[in-house]
Amino acid sequence: SPSDPDLVERARKAKEKLGDKVFVLGHHYQRDEVIQFADVTGDSFKLARDAAARPEAEYIVFCGVHFMAESADILTSDDQKVVLPDLAAGCSMADMATAEQVAECWDVLTEAGIAEQVVPVSYMNSSADIKAFTGKHGGTICTSSNAKRALDWAFEQGEKVLFLPDQHLGRNTAVRDMGMSLEDCVVYNPHKPNGGLTADELRAAKMILWRGHCSVHGRFSLDSVKDVRERIPGVNVLVHPECKHEVVAAADYVGSTEYIIKALEAAPAGSKWAIGTELNLVRRLANRFAPEGKEIVFLDKTVCFCSTMNRIDLPHLVWALESLAEGNLVNRIEVDKETEAFAKLALERMLALP
Ligand code: 13P
Ligand code: SF4
Repeated sequence: SPSDPDLVERARKAKEKLGDKVFVLGHHYQRDEVIQFADVTGDSFKLARDAAARPEAEYIVFCGVHFMAESADILTSDDQKVVLPDLAAGCSMADMATAEQVAECWDVLTEAGIAEQVVPVSYMNSSADIKAFTGKHGGTICTSSNAKRALDWAFEQGEKVLFLPDQHLGRNTAVRDMGMSLEDCVVYNPHKPNGGLTADELRAAKMILWRGHCSVHGRFSLDSVKDVRERIPGVNVLVHPECKHEVVAAADYVGSTEYIIKALEAAPAGSKWAIGTELNLVRRLANRFAPEGKEIVFLDKTVCFCSTMNRIDLPHLVWALESLAEGNLVNRIEVDKETEAFAKLALERMLALP
C-alpha cells in the first residue's frame, strides 16, 4: 500500500471534501504513507497540546495509538469527535497497568501507612482510567519530554512518587535527572502479592516504579550500544528514555522523540548517529538528513517497529476519511464523563507545569 497511487488519491480527495472539518494528527512513529496526510506531527506531548488547538474541527483523526486518542478526546470539547483509524492500535505498555491493579496497589500503600505521602505520576502512555486515578489522588501526567519537571513538581507535593506504568522512564528520570540512586527506587509487580515488596521496602523507597515497559524500546541492549560503537567509530548514541537504564547509562544523549529530532537538526554535517527509538521515525530521519551529510543508523541490528502504531496504515486512514466525508462517524474514541473529569485534572496539571 505505501505506493498505491489509488489510495493516495482517495485519501487526498476525502480530506479535501472534509476541509476544515477534519484535523489529522500524526505521531512520529507512524508510517510515511500515513504521515504524508497529517496536518501536524509530533511526540505525545506536542500532539496533546495540538489536539486542543483546533476547536473548529469537528473530527480529529488521530494517527497514533488508543491512549493518545483518549487524551485528545479528554482535552477537546464535547462536540469534537476523535477517531482512531484502527481500534486495534493499542499500546502494550499502557495495557500493563489496569484500573483494578492500580486500585489494589493503592490499598497496599495505604496498608503500609504511606499513601498520604505518595504522589502518583503517570506516563501519558496509560489508559484514561489510570489518568483519572492519578487526577483523583492529586497527581499529574507526564510525557518523556517533561518527566523531570513532573517529578520536580510531585516532590514538592509529597515525599514519594508512584510512577506508572513505565519503570524505565521513571528510573532513568530519577537517576539521571534528579540525582537519586538506584536504591531509592523499588519496583512494584502487580502480579505478586503486595507488589512483591515488604512494607519496610515501600517505606524506605522514594520512587515506587510500576513494573511496565515498552516492548519496542526494551529490545535495545547494552550489546547494541557496544556493537554500534565498534562498527562506527565516533558515532553518537542517542536513545529514548523508555530504554533500559543500562542502555541509557551507556548512551551519549537521551531524550524524547522531539528532542531526538531537534538534536539531529542541530547536528553538524559529517556527524554520525545511532538512534535507539522506533524504526519508522529513524528511517524517516535518516532519509531527511542524508543530503546534509549526516549519517543516521538504527541502534539495533534487528528491525524494531511498534506493531500497534503500524496498524494505522493507508487503507485504514482512507476508510476513516471516506466514511467521515460520507457522514458516517466511525471508530470514535469517547471517554465517559466521570473518568474524563478526573483525567482532565491530571492532564491539565501536566500542561501547567513550568
Ligand atoms: P514520546 O512521543 O513522548 O516520545 O513517546 C514515545 C512513545 O513511545 C509513544 O508511544
Ligand atoms: Fe506503546 Fe512502546 Fe508502541 Fe509507544 S512504542 S505505543 S510505548 S508499545
